[in-house]
Amino acid sequence: MCGIVGYIGKKNTKQILLDGLKELEYRGYDSAGIAVLEDGEFSNFKAVGKLVNLEEKTKDFKTKSFAIGIGHTRWATHGKPTEINAHPHLGESSYVVHNGIIENYATLKKELQTSGVTFLSQTDTEVIVHQFEKNQKNAKNSFEAFAKTVSQLHGAYAILLITKTEPETIFFAKHGSPMLVGINGENEKYFASSDTPLIGHCQSVNYFEDGDYGYVTPKEIAIFDKNGVKKEAKFSPLSQNKLLAQKDGFRFFMEKEIYEQSVVMSDTMMGRLGESEILFDELDKNLFDGINEIKLCACGTSYHSAMSASYLLERYSKIRTSLEIASEFRYREPIMSKDTLFVVISQSGETADTLETLKMAKTAGLKTLVICNVDNSSMVRLADATILTRAGIEKGVASTKAFATQVTVFWMLSLFIAKLKNSLSADEIASHISLLRELPSHVKVTDDMHERIKRLSKRYLHGHGFFFIGRDIFYPLALEGALKLKEISYLHAEGYPAGEMKHGPIALADPELFTIALLPKHLHYEKSKSNVEELSARDSTICAISQIEFDKADDFIEISECRHYMLEFFEMMVVLQLLSLEISVRLGNDVDMPRNLAKSVTVE
Ligand code: G6P
Repeated sequence: MCGIVGYIGKKNTKQILLDGLKELEYRGYDSAGIAVLEDGEFSNFKAVGKLVNLEEKTKDFKTKSFAIGIGHTRWATHGKPTEINAHPHLGESSYVVHNGIIENYATLKKELQTSGVTFLSQTDTEVIVHQFEKNQKNAKNSFEAFAKTVSQLHGAYAILLITKTEPETIFFAKHGSPMLVGINGENEKYFASSDTPLIGHCQSVNYFEDGDYGYVTPKEIAIFDKNGVKKEAKFSPLSQNKLLAQKDGFRFFMEKEIYEQSVVMSDTMMGRLGESEILFDELDKNLFDGINEIKLCACGTSYHSAMSASYLLERYSKIRTSLEIASEFRYREPIMSKDTLFVVISQSGETADTLETLKMAKTAGLKTLVICNVDNSSMVRLADATILTRAGIEKGVASTKAFATQVTVFWMLSLFIAKLKNSLSADEIASHISLLRELPSHVKVTDDMHERIKRLSKRYLHGHGFFFIGRDIFYPLALEGALKLKEISYLHAEGYPAGEMKHGPIALADPELFTIALLPKHLHYEKSKSNVEELSARDSTICAISQIEFDKADDFIEISECRHYMLEFFEMMVVLQLLSLEISVRLGNDVDMPRNLAKSVTVE
């Protein structure tokens, strides 16, 4: 995810900005840049790749005295990771950096282009600076122009903007993406999108709230709320623990990433939900011409999201869908026909087995699509089309938010194809879209839920194994739940289709066998329930996850009320992630770096 820094003061502005960006490296980025305004003159530097490239470009640049500056590390979501797309973005005499997504950028861009503005980049961010300069022409002052600009933006953002007309001022706005300002006793002001760049520089910080906007000068911090009412800054002491700050105070990156899902899933959907259609601007509509089958291919967690997709694509898009484990597919001399769209799914875009199957599909002349989290990765460069999942960097080896965003993309894709193929009516698609809009609130972790799982976890530390069971799309979720648990707890766990237990595995049932049962109210509830009863009758220890109380279970984790099985899917996903996390924490394991595993497996 992108990072922002800003500085007002007399110290070495360039170095402060670069050091700040370095502190944000852990968040992942593919390009970076800074803009500094000193004595009425701008200096701007951008570079693709790591920060050393930016350091190299700025090595001969130094500020002499007072200056203001902004900096950014970019994780590409709109437009490739190129130097032109890197922030800060320039208008005629202003620069802007931005985190988040401007949902209405296409509309604003069209209006600005009609009035003669030329755009250089493919980003949504560039509209902010041009819109601001357009507003400046009719405004009393730059702040009025900035306030108007903020009111015209829809979406999520944290913004810093500097302009020649106000050489001592940084304008800021925050809505949905984090941003803070820090102070010290030296009349300096520091901005950042998270605590770490400010540690060592500032003693106290003000965290902006959603809807806040305003300006900061050496002497003043002016904050206005979403109604335009001026408010006081609320300063609090800044913790000096960098690692804890990187983890936003969570114990593990995995835990932070579980909590982040609500926000990143909103990012995944941002700008892609129409009234009764899904908007994937990045997809050429002809991609699906002549396609009669979709083949999904992936490894690990991405394979589980592919399997989840196979249910959605057949159910909603009415398109034949097949599923492949990449390491198997590449050696089994598969038949590939040209009416198949070959889809690879990969968080990293670098997994060797998956990449190889993509090459095979290309060689066979198939159309290809990649669902990926990393722009410019090998798979993105190779495939005909890409949908980015926008989860931001995932540091925990056990994938959580990458999976959540992949399944979200697939739900949207199934509706996108349903529209093309007329397999769902406009009303049906619209009602799915209203469910998608509800999603972020269903994956928010509540204190009650986390506490309950923490307490329960102590009963699931031993035994001779776990079965995670579910039917339909809850089967791949069961597989993913079992994979999460084995990856970080080192306990033996298997995912199984609930209806298949009686064909063998039930022989293992005894009190030392733990069954984690997924019982969605809105999909085959009775059928799944009777499978769990079969296990309960054999005295297996059962933990049921459902919105309907289940008295045959030893333990019951109640999810909140959901009106559709896909909402139940995502609620249960969070429960399974937390359960694995808490069991593993109790076992004393390093949750973020489990033994024998790597985040990205680029060898066979
Ligand atoms: C590794 C990781 C898994 C991941 C799999 C596929 O095995 O440990 O967490 O699911 O690779 O990775 P990808 O980047 O292709 O999604």
